[in-house]
Amino acid sequence: MRAIVLKKNGNVNQLNYTELPLPSLKEGEVLVQTKAIGINPIDLKTKDGKGIYIKLQDENPLILGWELSGVVTQSRSEKFIEGDEVFGLINFPGHGKTYAEYVACPATDLVKKPSNCSHFEAAATSLAALTAYQSLVHLGGLKSEQKILIHAASGGVGHFAVQIAKHLGAYVAGTSSEKNKEFVLSLGTDKHLDYKTDELEKEHNDYDIVLDMVGGDTIDRSIPLIKKEGILISIPSGKNNSVTEKASKNGIKGLKFTVKSDENDMKVIADYLQDGILKPHISKIIEFNAMEDAHAQIAAGHTVGKVIVKL
Ligand SMILES: NC(=O)c1ccc[n+]([C@@H]2O[C@H](COP(=O)([O-])OP(=O)(O)OC[C@H]3O[C@@H](n4cnc5c(N)ncnc54)[C@H](OP(=O)(O)O)[C@@H]3O)[C@@H](O)[C@H]2O)c1
Repeated sequence: MRAIVLKKNGNVNQLNYTELPLPSLKEGEVLVQTKAIGINPIDLKTKDGKGIYIKLQDENPLILGWELSGVVTQSRSEKFIEGDEVFGLINFPGHGKTYAEYVACPATDLVKKPSNCSHFEAAATSLAALTAYQSLVHLGGLKSEQKILIHAASGGVGHFAVQIAKHLGAYVAGTSSEKNKEFVLSLGTDKHLDYKTDELEKEHNDYDIVLDMVGGDTIDRSIPLIKKEGILISIPSGKNNSVTEKASKNGIKGLKFTVKSDENDMKVIADYLQDGILKPHISKIIEFNAMEDAHAQIAAGHTVGKVIVKL
């Protein structure tokens, strides 16, 4: 099978197209023929030697990628049979290996793809959608009639977070630049704020939750908008504790977060997709042999919705 192997950390030239034997299956795994792969900033961070590179650096071969949609071709699990169409977030935060024509996946990381959506849509609705769902529901405990501000509402995580928060009945404001204002409003946000202006500074300090997908000075700009005992969830903060420290000095809770592969949460996401509660926006579909173009698109930092690679 064809796969893209990361020889060592560095730039896109480290992504090497290679012929590998089909992966062998452990008990509880299925072999999935990949139809579509979702590309995420964590792929680039890991390629650059950050993200979860340290954890994976001794893997040989090291194959990037964590979200996919495809067809089961072999099964060592009672959950799926050959021919099932499945999607999910594979082994996160571990070795996902989805940049390949075939992937050995724990059956517990997969759910059946709803018949009313394509493999592209399903692949788009794994890592970013689970991040939005787990951070808003499990960590933030978002409730109806709460007020939430979602940064980078036009991005991969943000566009799902808006849809989930609206589904849960919250008042939702979202940031992006002016060029993505109409897109952010089309997702159902109650208010758009252009982060390139002082619109954020003019907001009242009555948000229950801010969901930050940007980090850096967005954390500082968000803290004054959160009511006492409110919550700031910083998705890109990783091991950086500054969000927790800055928030507690201001009488709010500052939380970091890492998404995890989870069967039950994926079932919710699949139901949301099936019922039209989540509608992934795919801005680009790129061929497998042009992975460097997919990475360049994400690296630019202005993706609207998701970038998908097709096989
Ligand atoms: N901790 C975890 O488990 C986890 C999980 C998923 C993602 N993440 C991290 O979360 C971050 C976001 O991921 P993503 O996939 O959503 O990224 P993305 O899709 O690449 O985000 C792109 C979007 O960000 C917007 N944007 C850029 N700068 C902004 C700013 N200063 N304020 C507001 N919006 C801004 C852009 O809008 P404009 O073009 O209008 O500027 C664009 O639409 C990444 O750092 C990623 O690694 C972490």
